[in-house]
Amino acid sequence: MKTRVYTYQDLEKQQVQEDIRQTFTEGKNVVFPTETVYGIGGYALSKEGISGIYSVKGRPSDNPLILHVAKQEDIKPFIKTVQPYARKLMEHFWPGPLTLVMEKSDIVPMYITGGLHTVGIRVPGSEIARKVIEIAGLPICAPSANISGRPSSTLVEHVIEDFMDKVDIIIDGGKSEIGLESTVVDVTGEFPEILRPGMVTSEMIKEVVGAVQFSQAIDENDTPKSPGMKYKHYAPKGMLTIIEGSPTQVIDYMNQKIIESKETGVKVGVLIPIEYVGLVEPDEIFMMGSLHNSKEIASNLFEGLRSMDSKNVDVIYTFAFHQGEMKDAIMNRLLKAANYQVISLK
Ligand code: TXA
Ligand code: MG
Repeated sequence: MKTRVYTYQDLEKQQVQEDIRQTFTEGKNVVFPTETVYGIGGYALSKEGISGIYSVKGRPSDNPLILHVAKQEDIKPFIKTVQPYARKLMEHFWPGPLTLVMEKSDIVPMYITGGLHTVGIRVPGSEIARKVIEIAGLPICAPSANISGRPSSTLVEHVIEDFMDKVDIIIDGGKSEIGLESTVVDVTGEFPEILRPGMVTSEMIKEVVGAVQFSQAIDENDTPKSPGMKYKHYAPKGMLTIIEGSPTQVIDYMNQKIIESKETGVKVGVLIPIEYVGLVEPDEIFMMGSLHNSKEIASNLFEGLRSMDSKNVDVIYTFAFHQGEMKDAIMNRLLKAANYQVISLK
């Protein structure tokens, strides 16, 4: 297969619009940018379009997909009921980086929900994403555009790395603004329950509806509420470890490890906040942004992990990022990427 790569400006062209519409309708896949990360899209009611996504990503079939629609009214056919507090969340945060898990209607096929009776839906904040959905004129399922287990894509270069000549169309929208995936919230119960932290924080949700809780991840039957929770995620090829402690402790520890690795020939990379640049000298360094700007750190995280891969780093050390409103989302992704390997020097 030869992938057609379009820029977002190309979306104005009639023949490109026709190509996108036809590609989705025929049950083929289109990668497009959103404000969170790039998504690999398929027509939600096309078995072929959805199985294409699962197979090209190598995604386990019980991990459900998020349905993307262009505007709030478009969710109607796909859900049974909406709780009043969920409606408030939609009105407040849509279009935007918030996915709501609701009871699905009968027309939503089980092959997109991984066998669940609920469906996650969002109206993306990105104008380009909404334009793509409007051009398609169809509900679109779009998981993050990465091979399963790899860091999500925040640049078209990442998408090209994973999917060139494996999907029909890739749309280049530049760097993703947020860089971490949407907040996923289960709104089937009495209170909203956060299944995956993102840019819409628990504080923001609480402010709108008065109550919120974090999912316990695993319910009494030992099944995760969000199937995505149980899989290995975002993992770079090199072994990632999070180092916690005072800045001096962390810097000393990393420098010690760098000296040791020089003897053994292990290639070391470090994800570093700009405040500490120059204090650690590994083989490869990636600047995450300022400790005082959690949005900047969030937007660079996946790029940092992927850049370590492209430099064939064996061992990666990162600082922990516990400041700012994106801290929950950042640490959630970082812990998963590190397979929960944390060294605490405190
Ligand atoms: O920002 C995003 O949400 C991006 C962009 C492309 O929109 N998409 C994305 O999709 O991150 P994906 O498939 O990589 O992650 C979806 C997550 C998974 O952890 C999945 O288990 C969970 O949402 N999820 C989807 N539907 C669910 C449902 N019905 N119940 C519980 N969790 C669900
Ligand atoms: Mg994903």
